[in-house]
Amino acid sequence: MPKEWATSGLDLFLQLVPASRRRQRAGIEEGLREAIRSGRLPRGSLLPPTRALAHDLGVSRGTVLEVYSQLAAEGWIVGRQGSSTVVAFNAEPLGATTSIRFSPPARMRFDLRPGRPDASSFPRMDWLRALRRAFASAPNEAFGYGSPQGLLVLRSELAGYLGRARGLSCGSDDLLVTAGFTQGLGLVARSLGDGRKTIVMEEPSMPLHRSIARAAGHQITSIPVDADGLRVDELEALSDVAMVVLTPHRQHPSGAILSAARRSRLLAWARDKQAIILEDDYDGEFRYDRRPIGSLQALDPNVVVYAGTASKTLAPGVRLGWLVLPRNVRDAVIHQKELADWHTGALEQLAFAEMLRTAAYDRHIRKMRVLYRRRRDSIIDALRQGITGVQVAGIDAGLNLLIPVADQQVERAAVVAAHTAGIGLDGLTTGGYYEGSGVAGILIGYGAAPQHSFRAAVEVLVAALRPVLDDASRSAARQ
Ligand SMILES: Cc1ncc(COP(=O)(O)O)c(C=O)c1O
Repeated sequence: MPKEWATSGLDLFLQLVPASRRRQRAGIEEGLREAIRSGRLPRGSLLPPTRALAHDLGVSRGTVLEVYSQLAAEGWIVGRQGSSTVVAFNAEPLGATTSIRFSPPARMRFDLRPGRPDASSFPRMDWLRALRRAFASAPNEAFGYGSPQGLLVLRSELAGYLGRARGLSCGSDDLLVTAGFTQGLGLVARSLGDGRKTIVMEEPSMPLHRSIARAAGHQITSIPVDADGLRVDELEALSDVAMVVLTPHRQHPSGAILSAARRSRLLAWARDKQAIILEDDYDGEFRYDRRPIGSLQALDPNVVVYAGTASKTLAPGVRLGWLVLPRNVRDAVIHQKELADWHTGALEQLAFAEMLRTAAYDRHIRKMRVLYRRRRDSIIDALRQGITGVQVAGIDAGLNLLIPVADQQVERAAVVAAHTAGIGLDGLTTGGYYEGSGVAGILIGYGAAPQHSFRAAVEVLVAALRPVLDDASRSAARQ
């Protein structure tokens, strides 16, 4: 007969089978595993102190200590000496965890998740002004069903902006307005035609993007990234690749820039194999210590689909992006857009076109570049001052930085410590950025937190990470 157990202070219900002492320990272990596995004990929840649980279960404290230490070794729970034990944010047995994603903390006090802009800085007044002006002059037809490609007024403004600010070579006919990169990727993947094709993606890369390409019916091959970006030599060794998706301006999430030599090799490979390159320029507007990197599309508009988005420059909720399409794929991708949603909403398109026309978009980007640069400088200073010997990477551009750490164990401990302190951030291996085993690291975004809470967010972050990273460097020094 299963028996119900409860603790004072922290109640914990466990299904246990009474048995001998050894079996008793195994029973408690299995009861806890079951509670975590079933989600009854959610990730991040506090477990009772060993003394209290031993008292309530009527076993020795030693037995509970053994149980906790076994479950910690298996990756179900995380405990630190002198503080509480919690259910691990990635509560799965060790070894089976590399592609399982951590969820953000249940109550997020500070949002330091990567890849998000400051929503509180959204240019509301500019957007309103643009909408008002655009509405006053838009013809009635703008509010009817339109071209799947998007409104001509927006495509013309975008072509001008992309040529001027991003060095692209395109006209309004080459452009397709999308609901962000997420949709653009799906459209291009589906346009590859019937039959399972091979799409190459960077490793590490966003798990959602791999899922989108798979959902289009294709097979994904992941190729690693090093300090010079995608390993093009590994790509050359593959056969029958239909498309490669990459972030050459600033590899997401590692921060590497695709070197000039690899750019030429990649383009030569695509021409030779008649493959498509999908260039994801997701945050190229934000660079701080270097000139902008030229786009692959400008080097060869016949093999490169260029993808841009307003998700970092304005806000992800706007759901606006664009593709610059080579002639040979244009009709097929536009057809996929028509199948998906006919076309992107006219109101957003009109307002965005007006923002571009009046250069309000440029002004907003320039303002945000200064703000993000200050934030980047202050978070780096705080990390370096607060945590001895901390390494930070990927800092010359974008909205994230990366702290490489020794192994997955340290990464998990750091992510759990941050989540426990109410901070949202990602781990490289725990965040699902790798399909196979990967290099551990902590991915921190400095875009999303509103300006008024940014300092506090950084202070809490440093306080949460310090003990974990100090521990890790002490144990590295001992080895
Ligand atoms: C690598 C990468 N590409 C593209 C995007 C933008 O996607 P979307 O335009 O659909 O918001 C993101 C957003 O997080 C990203 O990290």
